Amino acid sequence: MTEKLLEVKHVKKYFPLSKSAFSKNRGFVKAVDDVSFDVYKGETFGLVGESGCGKSTLSRVIMRLTDADEGEMSFDGIDLLRLKGGALRKKRKDFQMVFQKPFESLNPRMTVGQIIGAPFDIHGVLAGAEKTKRVAELLELVGLSSQYVNRYPHEFSGGQRQRIGIARAIALNPKLVVCDEAVSALDVSIQSQILNLLDELQKELGLTYLFISHNLAVVKHMSDRIAVMYLGKIVEIADAEDLYAGALHPYTRALLSAIPLADPDAKKNRIVLTGDVPSPVNPPAGCRFCTRCQDAMPICSETAPEFIRVNERHAVACHLYADADGAAGSTAGKSDVQASAG
Ligand SMILES: Nc1ncnc2c1ncn2[C@@H]1O[C@H](COP(=O)(O)OP(=O)(O)O)[C@@H](O)[C@H]1O
Ligand SMILES: [Mg+2]
Repeated sequence: MTEKLLEVKHVKKYFPLSKSAFSKNRGFVKAVDDVSFDVYKGETFGLVGESGCGKSTLSRVIMRLTDADEGEMSFDGIDLLRLKGGALRKKRKDFQMVFQKPFESLNPRMTVGQIIGAPFDIHGVLAGAEKTKRVAELLELVGLSSQYVNRYPHEFSGGQRQRIGIARAIALNPKLVVCDEAVSALDVSIQSQILNLLDELQKELGLTYLFISHNLAVVKHMSDRIAVMYLGKIVEIADAEDLYAGALHPYTRALLSAIPLADPDAKKNRIVLTGDVPSPVNPPAGCRFCTRCQDAMPICSETAPEFIRVNERHAVACHLYADADGAAGSTAGKSDVQASAG
């Protein structure tokens, strides 16, 4: 897993607060604020953070459903942000999305066969009997009977609907599948079935996932590497095991301590996050987590921490580790550290 599929560099997306052309702009929601990371071919890259931290906005920027204000993205060697019109439409088959709300994302007036078959029509790749055959195969692949092809979304349970959404997403053999809270709306027992399905499909089809959730337990279960996001910024990136065993950022540690342990007798120091997530309109100066951080120092409210690479595959943006900087050598410029971490 060393070949990059997706490179995200210094991506920003701000939403203006005022919509009216006549009123003064009262500032911006800094939904995604200078985010960089790489996703390697065949891996599951997890993105975790509390609700409102900018995960969906970031996923929509990557999917080219909304335009980035700044930054660069390369996907499979092409400049993703430059793609426009027909070229973009053609490339869309390579990056697909599984949405959070399996019911809202399926057209209630279309049969399952039409829904899963739509990508073939849009991209003009299969028609007639070939398409029918492929749709049946896809249904079986996601664990549904091909006899369901003429049924409508309302005839299915939430979990089954998410299977339909997954079949639609993988119909055109995409290179990247972005799963944004793909199981968050489902019952816990159904969640694990869908996660297992995603796992199996990855093995069978060699998919690469960008797996997004507010739930660190779910992200940890699925991911090879994990990025932790807080108020529009990534604060830590590491291999999943590393993050679990040796999380560095106080925010990551707080998120981890909130995961229930399998063994109820095991001792654990629970770090309780107090206070609300500050507004992304006027995020705290310095480190954005400083207002809720147990370890905050005077510098934290003054200066935003740079990304520090503690080892080749683990990077953290936190002043606590300022002394660890340079551990990986001083060859990389500071701005490259975040992008190449991991
Ligand atoms: N279209 C939009 N217009 C204005 N603000 C938005 C828009 N979409 C998202 N936001 C704001 O951007 C921030 C990040 O939202 P979002 O990306 O949905 O976070 P998450 O997916 O992590 O819950 C939130 O403060 C949200 O209110
Ligand atoms: Mg979201």
